[in-house]
Amino acid sequence: MEDLRRLREALVSNDISQLTIPTPDDWHVHFRDGEMLGTVVPYTATRFGRAIVMPNLVPPITSVKEAVAYRQRIRATVPAGSDFEPLMTCYMTEHLNPDELSAGFREGVFAAVKLYPRNATTNAGSGVNDMRRLHATLERMQRDGMPLLIHGEATDPEVDVYDREAVFIDRTLRRLVCDFPALKIVFEHVTACEAVDFVVDRHAAAPGTIGATITVHHLMINRTDMFRGGIRPHLYCLPIAKRERHRQALRQAATSGEGPFFLGTDSAPHTLEAKQSACGCAGIFSAPMALELYAQVFEEMGALGRLAAFACTNGPAFYGLPVHAGHITLERHTQTIPTTIGSRDSPVAVFCGGMTTPWRVARRSESGTG
Ligand code: NCD
Ligand code: ZN
Repeated sequence: MEDLRRLREALVSNDISQLTIPTPDDWHVHFRDGEMLGTVVPYTATRFGRAIVMPNLVPPITSVKEAVAYRQRIRATVPAGSDFEPLMTCYMTEHLNPDELSAGFREGVFAAVKLYPRNATTNAGSGVNDMRRLHATLERMQRDGMPLLIHGEATDPEVDVYDREAVFIDRTLRRLVCDFPALKIVFEHVTACEAVDFVVDRHAAAPGTIGATITVHHLMINRTDMFRGGIRPHLYCLPIAKRERHRQALRQAATSGEGPFFLGTDSAPHTLEAKQSACGCAGIFSAPMALELYAQVFEEMGALGRLAAFACTNGPAFYGLPVHAGHITLERHTQTIPTTIGSRDSPVAVFCGGMTTPWRVARRSESGTG
């Protein structure tokens, strides 16, 4: 008892100087392709054991063959010494062949299918317009136990951008879980209280069928931060950051340690040029410092002891995968976050660039080495 109390106090105060957790996974990341791929993958591969790789390339990944080839291109950029494993996803369209999907899942190529409502976000032009057209595909996924990862925003242009997630729950998600009660669903990058409540309720009613990823930026910024002192294009992403009360609800959910909530950075690199324009695109690139910033948030919440649940064990439990056998050690050491990474010709702004964070990655042991 006394030990437990001391441990808790140490975690709440600043006494703890090192934290060793199983190698975490990133359950939602964008790597892109070509030159950008080589630039960004090492940041993820040096901190995370696995990552669910989003398929919204141009054109999107919609076949087993494309996923295998993309996985190969990703593996070629993983730094030597890292045992990072990319987990591939298939981009949901109204024309997928359920047999191909099912075969890809069985063969271990596809870990899940990603559903973008059409035009909801970056490269969502081939997304889904009419959910009714997915019936056969969703039936098969439900039977196979293949997870459906959802970008949960309504795309009706009449809906206010800040309400799109809540409206999606009411217009689409409630119906979906009724029609496919055993389908495994991940509500990706939740941003609103309504989403947290939905996930908590659904988890209570049908445990194992619902998960939710939470990004580090939605734990750190609210919608006012996007306009602090001027417009800040590098804080623009979709779903858009909401009011402070929503951020507080996300912080509570992430640090609760509860099973359905797990780490997904939604790290989404775009060049400076693409972000700083008259019509800048959505996406925040957080991979270089995401883990350190999550640790910072958990510490602020007095919940460092629950970081491992959120970052290392809840995700594998949902996906039916083992917890990574390796470990990573974070140590208290203030570092300044780089403002940009990448080549001089196409730099990418880093989330919180120029600011400091109290944690840094000290070392990582790969699986099998302890
Ligand atoms: C993502 C991207 O750039 O691919 N952008 C974003 O704002 N999150 C797509 C997405 O996940 O919505
Ligand atoms: Zn994303």
